[in-house]
Amino acid sequence: MSKLTGKVAIVTGGNSGIGYASAAALKEEGAQVVITGRSAEKVQEAASTLGVTGLVADVLDLNALDQLVAQVKAEFGTVDVLFVNAGVFEPAPVGQISEEMFDRQMGINFKGAVFTIEKFLPILNDGASIINLSSVNAYTGMPNTGIYAASKAAMNSFTRTAATELAPRKIRVNAVNPGPVYTPIFGKTGMPEEQLNGFAAAMQERVPLKRFGQPEDIAKLVTFLASDDASFITGGEYNIDGGININPLLVG
Ligand SMILES: NC(=O)c1ccc[n+]([C@@H]2O[C@H](COP(=O)([O-])OP(=O)(O)OC[C@H]3O[C@@H](n4cnc5c(N)ncnc54)[C@H](OP(=O)(O)O)[C@@H]3O)[C@@H](O)[C@H]2O)c1
Repeated sequence: MSKLTGKVAIVTGGNSGIGYASAAALKEEGAQVVITGRSAEKVQEAASTLGVTGLVADVLDLNALDQLVAQVKAEFGTVDVLFVNAGVFEPAPVGQISEEMFDRQMGINFKGAVFTIEKFLPILNDGASIINLSSVNAYTGMPNTGIYAASKAAMNSFTRTAATELAPRKIRVNAVNPGPVYTPIFGKTGMPEEQLNGFAAAMQERVPLKRFGQPEDIAKLVTFLASDDASFITGGEYNIDGGININPLLVG
């Protein structure tokens, strides 16, 4: 189990949820892992539990991204795996979308992703793997996800263009579209616990495999796409969603 020995992997938003589980899995495969996040306390705690390097960089702050890349370059030289995972979910129905909510979700989920890639590009090795954490919400038309879903659809589009343009350097760019996964992201919406539990129960019922994903389920796909086992895969999108995107209307 050492498909990534000698590789350097960056995981944005690695102090929690899918990023945290992926950092653990990438390390397990032999990579030297750097996690990032926006809270110094959370990043340091997660990094020391995982036994990886933790660096603070809010993806909304392009200067912070410059500093992050400079720190990684000084400590590791170059990068082989860039897992663009940091994201937020702020549900709101059409008609109640505030400018702040729009700017935060597009700013973190899309602009933050684009500039993470832009800034890291100069220190990415030829043959590197970029993995963008998107969502099946890009396709589902689920209520209350107008801006979140649009931020992820934009990311998937960017993934395809970047894959074409970076192919001459053999840099592969793919997107991962999870369905519902048990992580702290839903608790951060500010929804009361009762409402969250109701949402989770209703959502689980609609998943053909009748469960939420676990962060470790996603980490396995991320680790595969990061490795040379995926060396002929670029510009792809992979649903990992218990089947919810097949046809939610027909699931009883
Ligand atoms: N959970 C799901 O059902 C699901 C489904 C589809 C897609 N996704 C996507 O999966 C990704 C990971 O989410 P998760 O579910 O694992 O949620 P999570 O546990 O909340 O993890 C999100 C991570 O991103 C970090 N982050 C947020 N804003 C940031 C910023 N401005 N700069 C740097 N880091 C920032 C968070 O930091 P803090 O801990 O400080 O908040 C956290 O480390 C997101 O892109 C999300 O949209 C999740």
